[in-house]
Amino acid sequence: MGVFDAPELDAHEHVSFFCDGPSGLRAIIAIHRTGPLGTAGGGCRIWPYGDARTALRDALRLSRAMTYKLALVELPAGGAKAVVLADPRRDKSEALLLAIGRAVDRLGGRFIVAADVGTDAADLETIGRATMWVSRDAGGANDAAEATAYGVFVGLRTAVRRRLGRADLDGVKVAVQGLGRVGASLCRRLEAAGARLWVTDLDAERCARIAAGGRATVVAPGAICGLDVDVFAPCALADALDATTIPLLRCRVVAGSANNQLADPALADELERRDILWAPDIVINAGGALGAASSVSLDAADGTRLRARLDMLGPLLDGIFERAARERISTLAAAERTARERFAAMGGHP
Ligand code: NAI
Repeated sequence: MGVFDAPELDAHEHVSFFCDGPSGLRAIIAIHRTGPLGTAGGGCRIWPYGDARTALRDALRLSRAMTYKLALVELPAGGAKAVVLADPRRDKSEALLLAIGRAVDRLGGRFIVAADVGTDAADLETIGRATMWVSRDAGGANDAAEATAYGVFVGLRTAVRRRLGRADLDGVKVAVQGLGRVGASLCRRLEAAGARLWVTDLDAERCARIAAGGRATVVAPGAICGLDVDVFAPCALADALDATTIPLLRCRVVAGSANNQLADPALADELERRDILWAPDIVINAGGALGAASSVSLDAADGTRLRARLDMLGPLLDGIFERAARERISTLAAAERTARERFAAMGGHP
């Protein structure tokens, strides 16, 4: 299949393929829109993709989602994504990171790169030796992940209030898939709020760390979707919700951090049919964009304004739920309509 036939291509402005022999870099950078100021923001993902087609699909979908996400929180940039075909545990070297930096640099500031799955603040420091177009999070504290988790917590609480009529999370049963930076932080916040947790990860050590907190039950990765819980929180990778997993769900709410949770956008209607309230990923995980754009750390004394912006994700999400009900559309369609309107209002070309 040719690149121009890719179903995920949404009139993307720019797609680059980078190879660097000495470091072994194979990367794709997709810029969906450059936005009103001529720049696009997005993370750099390092993942052992099976093939270039899968990597391209991820880059196209994630960059489009990024445009919508930034517009929803009214940050004046378009969306982009870098994906690197490599195993972060095995292949991530200084040479590879510097080659990523050079690739970003060649785009001349149209793409400002942040951390994502497979990259962290230390990696951004290395990438930043080869380009100035790097978004460094506050003090290297992985602030974007903390901000994302806080935003997901706010959004999850909002969805629970709407669908279950519960004012707080005390005793609410939540199944968390993926205990990385965001998932682990979300678990801590949910535990503090009195929620009961069932958790899973491919990495047994991460499961053990969360279970040590005393309130979480560890289950096998394949069992997490079918649990009798109130909320399913997908915080691992894309496509958690597909034709196989959705029929297993017994929850009333799906609210988690993962990007591109739906394997197919039409599945948003299927969730609706099953009376499951889905918090669209482009809304509920937009805290990461706010964290990456912020120069303060969420938990620092000066983090109050960032926290206030993240708290606004609650009313934003509630407005999306309202719109979906009013216009009789899925929560995904409501979120995308709102994002396109906001992007156009900022002077971008949807
Ligand atoms: P991470 O790489 O720190 O953690 C992901 C975790 O998911 C890993 O522990 C991995 O072992 C686990 N995992 C992967 N496949 C799994 C499966 N099938 N079953 C169970 N566990 C599985 O990533 P991070 O930063 O926590 O991000 C999580 C999700 O949130 C990703 O989809 C990411 O794109 C999204 N996100 C992250 C943001 C951030 O600021 N870090 C911002 C917005 C979205």
